[in-house]
Amino acid sequence: MTVNNRAITLDKEGLPKVWYNILPDLPEPLPPPLDPENRKPLSPEKLEAIFPRELIKQEVSEERFIAIPEEVREVYMSWRPTPLFRAIYLERKLKTPAKIYYKYEGVSPPGSHKPNTAVAQAYYNMREGIERLTTETGAGQWGSALAYATHQFGLKSKIFMVKVSYHQKPFRKVLMNLWGAEVVPSPSNDTPIGKQILKEEPDNPGSLGIAISEAIYEAATNEDTKYSLGSVLNHVLLHQTIIGLEAKRQLESIDEYPDYVVGAVGGGSNFSGIFWPFYYDRVSGKADNDTRFIAVEPLACPTLTNGIYAYDFGDAARMTPLLKMYTLGHNFIPPPIHAGGLRYHGDAPTLCLLVKKGYVDAVAYDQVEVFEAAQMFFETEGILSAPECAHAIKAAIDIALEAKKSGEERVILFNLSGHGYFDMKAYEDYVEKRLPPYIYPVDKIKDNINALIKDGKLLL
Ligand SMILES: Cc1ncc(COP(=O)(O)O)c(C=O)c1O
Repeated sequence: MTVNNRAITLDKEGLPKVWYNILPDLPEPLPPPLDPENRKPLSPEKLEAIFPRELIKQEVSEERFIAIPEEVREVYMSWRPTPLFRAIYLERKLKTPAKIYYKYEGVSPPGSHKPNTAVAQAYYNMREGIERLTTETGAGQWGSALAYATHQFGLKSKIFMVKVSYHQKPFRKVLMNLWGAEVVPSPSNDTPIGKQILKEEPDNPGSLGIAISEAIYEAATNEDTKYSLGSVLNHVLLHQTIIGLEAKRQLESIDEYPDYVVGAVGGGSNFSGIFWPFYYDRVSGKADNDTRFIAVEPLACPTLTNGIYAYDFGDAARMTPLLKMYTLGHNFIPPPIHAGGLRYHGDAPTLCLLVKKGYVDAVAYDQVEVFEAAQMFFETEGILSAPECAHAIKAAIDIALEAKKSGEERVILFNLSGHGYFDMKAYEDYVEKRLPPYIYPVDKIKDNINALIKDGKLLL
């Protein structure tokens, strides 16, 4: 471990050997996923058409700690442990008594936290003889992580990229191609659901819900292919706990403990990855500190703050199991905001349960104020944030400003889940004042949800 005045690094021996699984520590059992065919609790074996057995086992495991395979640790070591920084320049700019720390996941080869699970998923698929993986991607962060990870283990990949992001972020596609992935804009003509949507609406901008349907179809209809998900499911969040486990060691090494743990939420993986280990401290009585967990989302896609807690499908074509989660409805098409990775209609069931039970608070911001926060962070800390985690920066700044008002020395930890150096189009729109505020009308959300309930497509 090394500390200079702002970076707290761990050496390779500090890389955790286990992931932390929250399932045994939830305040009540997680409502089971439902079979889309009969709406009864799904038997895990049914998932074998699209996922490898080891990941299905992890999905329902009640083991608190799960060993990280050595082959996965070895790949992790090409960029992990990631640095924890104290944002002293941002603190000075804000003139706050708060101490702000951020865990920087942008140092990975694809530039975000996503390979923490992509590498694990590619490894388990490879071990079970799978040759090819399909997935969806929004901003392209997840797609490039999966392209990187499959390349490490000699697998092929096909990635359905939400059309609006495919055009907004063309260089993410090139990155995926360089790692050998086939990338198609979604909706595409490669699947029946894509074709149907394009027939009805040729300019459909796409959504993660549609791209998931296409990727699952591709996996279910090809023997050598399985599907890989970049967020939401328990096993994905499990793999991301490497972030919080490292951050905890780094903070311990300087005798700090966070009062707030903050993260942006698209499906919930980077935020869960950072806060679960601190949640474990709380429920196991290891921390006397009443740490608050803050989930941050866009006002353009306000799942936790304005969605309904109900059983919904994960995809637009209603092919996935139904998950109990906060949702805006599986047919929700979010406005084309630049934080492409936060444009998902639902969230991880574990996170939703913890929000419902009051363990986690949720806040939402408009994209213009989020980009202003990203600019301040860039000016002070020198890192250009991905638009997604810029939401966490905005929340951290607001907490630090509240601390200034009350004169309290708060310790804030947030997850800087990725860099924004492939998001220059977004930043160009921002500096040229072409970035509109997007606040999704609450009435429209309510109408959509009520219509789905009436049609029996959303179960309370
Ligand atoms: C950098 C970054 N942060 C956050 C997210 C949101 O996803 P999740 O909530 O699963 O971390 C994404 C999704 O693409 C992302 O690319």
